[in-house]
Amino acid sequence: TALLQIGFLVLITYLFIIFVSAEPPRFHFSKAENYISMYHQEGTDTLYVGGRANIYVLNFTDHGVTDLQIPAASDETAKNTCRAKAAPLEMECDNFITVMQKVNDTFIVCGTNAGSPRCWMLVNDTVLTDVQGHISSASDISPAYPSQKSISLATDGSLYSALSSVGGHAGSIRRTFGPQKLLKTENIWLMNPQFAGAAMIPTSLRDKEEIYFFFSEFNKTARVDEEPYRARIGRVCMVDEGGIKALLADSWTTFLKARVMCGAGNTQQQYNNLRQAVVLTAQDKRAGVLYGLFSNAWGKTVICAYSIEDIDRAFSTSKLKGYSSPLTGMRPGMCVRKDPSSTGGHNDIKNLGVIRYHPEIEDVIRPVGIAPLDLPTDDQITHAVADIVLAVNDEHYSVLYLGTEQGKILKVLHTSDGAFIISQYSLFHNESPVLSMVIDSPKGHLYVGTAMEVQRLTLADCGRYGDTCRECILSRDPYCGWDRLQRKCIPIPCLSSALKLRKTSPKEVLVPRNTTVFLPCPVRSFHATYRWERDNCVLNYPCLFSGDFCVLGPAVDTPLKEGVFRCMASEDGFKVEVISFRLVNQGPLLAASVLCSLGLSLLLAAATLWLH
Ligand SMILES: *[C@@H]1O[C@H](CO)[C@@H](O)[C@H](O)[C@H]1NC(C)=O
Ligand SMILES: *[C@@H]1O[C@H](CO)[C@@H](O)[C@H](O)[C@H]1NC(C)=O
Ligand SMILES: *[C@@H]1O[C@H](CO)[C@@H](O)[C@H](O)[C@H]1NC(C)=O
Ligand SMILES: *[C@@H]1O[C@H](CO)[C@@H](O)[C@H](O)[C@H]1NC(C)=O
Ligand SMILES: *[C@@H]1O[C@H](CO)[C@@H](O)[C@H](O)[C@H]1NC(C)=O
Repeated sequence: TALLQIGFLVLITYLFIIFVSAEPPRFHFSKAENYISMYHQEGTDTLYVGGRANIYVLNFTDHGVTDLQIPAASDETAKNTCRAKAAPLEMECDNFITVMQKVNDTFIVCGTNAGSPRCWMLVNDTVLTDVQGHISSASDISPAYPSQKSISLATDGSLYSALSSVGGHAGSIRRTFGPQKLLKTENIWLMNPQFAGAAMIPTSLRDKEEIYFFFSEFNKTARVDEEPYRARIGRVCMVDEGGIKALLADSWTTFLKARVMCGAGNTQQQYNNLRQAVVLTAQDKRAGVLYGLFSNAWGKTVICAYSIEDIDRAFSTSKLKGYSSPLTGMRPGMCVRKDPSSTGGHNDIKNLGVIRYHPEIEDVIRPVGIAPLDLPTDDQITHAVADIVLAVNDEHYSVLYLGTEQGKILKVLHTSDGAFIISQYSLFHNESPVLSMVIDSPKGHLYVGTAMEVQRLTLADCGRYGDTCRECILSRDPYCGWDRLQRKCIPIPCLSSALKLRKTSPKEVLVPRNTTVFLPCPVRSFHATYRWERDNCVLNYPCLFSGDFCVLGPAVDTPLKEGVFRCMASEDGFKVEVISFRLVNQGPLLAASVLCSLGLSLLLAAATLWLH
């Protein structure tokens, strides 16, 4: 039995759950699509997939997919010219759809058009017409060939485009469409950039909003024994309207870039090629995490996580490389709205000059936890997306979805304790690499594309973790919780509404063994109904009025031992959170089996009134 027990422990510690396809809704391409782009608006069931001379408008239901295909052929002349050049590959002489973005209400579509890019507007989901409005040349928005990676980001009515360097093209970051001035990077700011992603970093102050671009720079003259790649974060301010006639007239005046490291401390083992990046941020706060997918010279892939606060601090405090004079007055690169009456004072010109010649900061961005996430897999990761989940214990968790070279999806929980593979999906009928993924958090869907097909997965597929509480909890899937009444592993309810209602941060209360706590909720209105909720409204309890408080005390089915308890006041259909406490058991950590039978393990004894 001892051996058996050890065997079981090993199993529960190291075995993550492997699912074999349970037929999620999928769409098969009639011919292989080796380059795909995706566009999806959160909260809808429609996925736009850009392929070779074709746009697929796919409508998903839980049972299947309906599709509409919009042909987008390239011009014959462009095709002929491309073939004559035979560059870079004849197979790339077609119109590959590289950009699909909704900018306010304008659906912009761009394609490579056999080496001479073109843009259209997609109208009524069916018709491609010429773009109206202030737009850059299509070759600033879309690459000329699909193997040249590009990034596009639409925010606040403008389109931002980043094109990787290839052949004779330097690569650029531009604002390419919208009411604001169209701007670009200076060529000397970027050294053969290969773009990996972009994200808008929100703040509570509108004028301070920034866009981060993630890329690798490639040193063509590096020696064989030198690492040619350098991972980078570049950033610009959204309020940027360009410089003055003499300096940076059509360029960003707020561009700064930093070096990003991914590897174990200062060791030689570094992953320098940043291939893809995703950012999770709070709605209106400057907080969050950046996940980067990196590879080294041998093609091994890893994930590094960075704190947005760390990056922000570096950009706002670091010295600038090669610039030793003190930075007086306004720091170069800070986001401020251009004063239209200003004609460019001495200080402005000085700052423009600093940005023009010294856009790189000295500080290096290092990952949280110093090293890449420790993922027990050797699979090559080709694509990553991430989600923030508010779990039953009221903690926020990051969940990463990693697509692999073999067409698998790894679902990874990332917490301050490290990374843990929750489950692995092998979904595709053939093992082709995951090319693209899009996540829809509000709807709880993940769209995954390979060259052969597109599928939609459900993020909270809790039913798969078996029929026991133990299996449900051991899965560590933060989307799921055990429902004691239904005796089922279920998706955690009211996630998004719970997030919106969260107003207070829980005060921590240590609960010593053999003591009982009473939680006070100040009563502000006697017209309101006060109730306590535990762990995100999975359970809730009435309270007893005592003076100006509605007190939650011990009762047979109120396990006041651990968890987050929130006092909610409802009045006229509005529900607000008044106060919240996080009870922490001072005893040893509870085992999963105990968690499941908390009701039985109540310890109610000496009463302590806990106030404040
Ligand atoms: C997809 O759904 C939208 C909205 O429900 C509808 O207008 C559109 O016609 C559908 N398209 C296809 C291809 O089924
Ligand atoms: C889009 O639909 C509207 C309303 O049905 C129609 O008036 C308009 O002509 C359509 N536009 C195009 C370009 O087909
Ligand atoms: C985009 O839409 C918002 C609100 O819908 C509007 O305030 C803004 O002016 C629009 N921007 C552009 C560029 O049309
Ligand atoms: C690229 O590598 C070469 C050779 O080591 C080096 O001399 C040069 O400074 C590097 N360029 C940059 C911009 O780092
Ligand atoms: C808690 O109570 C149990 C039974 O009432 C008692 O045996 C135990 O010693 C108590 N523990 C503490 C830490 O007071």
